[in-house]
Amino acid sequence: PPQKRYLIGGNWKANGTLAQTAGIVKILNQGGAIPLEAEVVIAPPAHLLGYVKDNLRPDVAVSAQNSALTTKPGAFTGELPAVLLKDFGLNWVIVGHSERREGFGGPGETDDVVATKTKVAVDAGLHVMACVGEKLEQREAGKTTEVVLSQLNAIASKLAREDWSKVVIAYEPVWAIGTGKVATPEQAQEVHESIRAFVKEKVGAQQAALLRIIYGGSVKGSSAPGLILKPDIDGFLVGGASLTSDFVTIIRAVK
Ligand code: G3P
Repeated sequence: PPQKRYLIGGNWKANGTLAQTAGIVKILNQGGAIPLEAEVVIAPPAHLLGYVKDNLRPDVAVSAQNSALTTKPGAFTGELPAVLLKDFGLNWVIVGHSERREGFGGPGETDDVVATKTKVAVDAGLHVMACVGEKLEQREAGKTTEVVLSQLNAIASKLAREDWSKVVIAYEPVWAIGTGKVATPEQAQEVHESIRAFVKEKVGAQQAALLRIIYGGSVKGSSAPGLILKPDIDGFLVGGASLTSDFVTIIRAVK
């Protein structure tokens, strides 16, 4: 396979009855060859990680949707330490999704928490999809780059240069998530380009060139081909459409 493959992530969020899960696994297992240019990672909710790992085709990786701040197992009720995910045979985690940053009626994750979780997961040996993205009012106030780069800066501040081979940045504008309002290829490219320029400046040219920056927010089989043509879009993080056969269309779009 090429040195830098596109990454297509499927984030199921808090979805997946056993029946629905069996159906999606079947769609993927029967979905035909994965293009050589693509790496595919599915993130089911925590209680389904074992089932999906055991039943999904081996050329599709399985990811957790979150991991804990703690570097060690122990007395952290309800948490998922990265070292235990790794021990279980998983190699991926999503960190800092906007829904986790927002909180669910409780306190959300700060930039600093997201950055520490990223470092803890990388140190545990996981690959991380670290999410960044602005809210609608921030975009409308002309603050998109500022917001995204400050989220990115928090992450970059905790990582060693060699850690970057384990990190993927997912740009997910909050206004595009679950709304059906996909960013235009130009809007996404503009932000992806500034993310790569930031990493080049702060970390190094090689790390920036090899970094995969993936777009998330209402990606569908119909919008994926236009987005993937942009030079700094290296794949997708797909929510709703990853629960359907449209995900297979999205995977094929990177060919
Ligand atoms: O992490 C993926 C995500 O937030 C996008 O969700 O449903 O807009 O594709 P969706």
